[in-house]
Amino acid sequence: MPDPVLYFSLFTGPPSYTVLSCFINKGENSMYNAYRTLIEDIAIAINGEYSAIQCYEILAQLAPNEKSRNQILEIRQDEINHYQAFTAIYTQLTGQQPTPELIEECPTAYLSGLKYSIEDEQKAVDFYLDIADQTQDLYIKETFKRAAADEQNHAVWFLYFLTRGQARS
Ligand SMILES: [Fe+2]
Ligand SMILES: [Fe+2]
Repeated sequence: MPDPVLYFSLFTGPPSYTVLSCFINKGENSMYNAYRTLIEDIAIAINGEYSAIQCYEILAQLAPNEKSRNQILEIRQDEINHYQAFTAIYTQLTGQQPTPELIEECPTAYLSGLKYSIEDEQKAVDFYLDIADQTQDLYIKETFKRAAADEQNHAVWFLYFLTRGQARS
């Protein structure tokens, strides 16, 4: 059975991820490495979404009122959508289902959980835009750009909740 990554690239033409490294260092190895990078990045993104889905469930329970709780659950639903979209891409690229892992500890208090989430969301924006920039596959590019826009919106919501929470305490 051929390596699924190499197998995929043989049948779909050269990958375009990390375009620069392909131009500088042409050859099968660099193409292989470029695809590996995309798949590894998507696996990291899937872990991030998986962790956010678990942690926002807890953060919603810690919320001080129903309005905030519902908004956090709506954010969580976005993460479920991202998780499903990234998983579909990963499965198509590798022929395998991802095995997601919890990569962060979930919050135990509302305000510190919000602070952590703001940073986490902002980092996700950067990471997803990087992935979008580095692939020429339009579907992958659009999926990650859309997810980045959602994460930016989440960061603003969490910042708003943090500001209100700090004003109260
Ligand atoms: Fe997300
Ligand atoms: Fe998010």
